[in-house]
Amino acid sequence: MSGAAVWGARAGVLGGWRASWGLALLLGLLLKAGGAASSVSPAAGIAPPRFNVSLDEAAPRRWLPVLRHFDPSFLRTALATIIGKTVPDWVHDVLRPVASEMDKFLPQPFEGEIRGMCDMLGLNVGDGILINLAYEFSAFCTSIIAQDVSGNIYHGRNLDYPFGNFLRKLTIDVQYIKNGQISYTGTTFVGYVGLWTGQSPKKFTISGDERDKGLWWENAVAALLRKNSPVSWLVRNTLEEAENFQAAVIKLAKTPIVADVYYIVGGVSPKEGVVITRNRGGPADIWPLDPTRGEWFRVETNYDHWKPVPTWDDRRTPAIKALNSTGQKNINFDTLFKVLSVSPVLNNLTVYTTLMSAAKPDKYMTQIRN
Ligand SMILES: *[C@@H]1O[C@H](CO)[C@@H](O)[C@H](O)[C@H]1NC(C)=O
Ligand SMILES: *[C@@H]1O[C@H](CO)[C@@H](O)[C@H](O)[C@H]1NC(C)=O
Ligand SMILES: *[C@@H]1O[C@H](CO)[C@@H](O)[C@H](O)[C@H]1NC(C)=O
Repeated sequence: MSGAAVWGARAGVLGGWRASWGLALLLGLLLKAGGAASSVSPAAGIAPPRFNVSLDEAAPRRWLPVLRHFDPSFLRTALATIIGKTVPDWVHDVLRPVASEMDKFLPQPFEGEIRGMCDMLGLNVGDGILINLAYEFSAFCTSIIAQDVSGNIYHGRNLDYPFGNFLRKLTIDVQYIKNGQISYTGTTFVGYVGLWTGQSPKKFTISGDERDKGLWWENAVAALLRKNSPVSWLVRNTLEEAENFQAAVIKLAKTPIVADVYYIVGGVSPKEGVVITRNRGGPADIWPLDPTRGEWFRVETNYDHWKPVPTWDDRRTPAIKALNSTGQKNINFDTLFKVLSVSPVLNNLTVYTTLMSAAKPDKYMTQIRN
């Protein structure tokens, strides 16, 4: 059944669910870019700007100092372009008012942060919410967790997505400040309040990679109504609340979310590294490092680790080969960056690379690629 057919049938039958299904259709139309990306020559990028965002400020106000560093018309153009290229005009016109109704049941601080930014920029709140609910920002990603021979844990990720011309200019590292201290650090796009990449200092690091299970969006709105969390919001909540690696893994594994995903988590002690394969309701699989058996790294792209990758998008094998030839005794920030620069792990959709190690929080580093 096509998306339009779903919309027509469900809206007719389910009256009150019309709004939900309308939004589901729109989310479904935020199309993923197809195809594996081609090779580019590996080259170091440049660091994005880094900002402090105060969690002690009211949610609607806390991003305003960051927004002042960006041209509002550029931000409006970026939002309009990304929505415009992925959502047909007529669908957007029909569904935009629906999305703005979502603010009544979206959790804080996310709803307040989105509303505050939209108000400042003169943007439609429905558009702001839609872009924040878009799931595909982690399409075609690679995350790697590795342990060196001394037991240090390294965590790296590439985030690959179309619209790089905008997103490379919108990528920022953010230090979330509470009581004058860095509560956690993350990498995101200006205006996007969830996190796909982040670090709780001296505790743990997290990255998220999309897990595509076809029409993921079909139940996304129903899941939102049941108070399931958008996947990138759970990352932020976990960074903010979890006391240690183990608590983070449990929270990320069992909290209900709106779509399937892979969460990759690193800690501060030997063996603290895991890939969590998530279904909406709970974990499908937990895949920890097993260094005593020589399994000193885990690579997760966008496919279940126990299944083969499709031949048209194999970034897993090149990453594993590069890690094998690096060797456990040589793994560190520099060599992990090189692994994440091997084609097609690095490809022409790669927006940024982040390296982190929770035990050394000051080493958190992002580079804009291409
Ligand atoms: C990026 O990769 C795609 C798919 O292989 C290719 O068609 C496109 O020309 C590439 N773009 C650039 C700028 O290299
Ligand atoms: C950000 O906050 C940290 C912690 O309070 C502080 O040390 C640092 O100077 C702040 N940076 C800026 C640019 O304000
Ligand atoms: C990596 O090394 C492991 C252990 O030696 C080996 O089993 C695996 O086949 C290697 N993988 C690749 C892609 O080279």
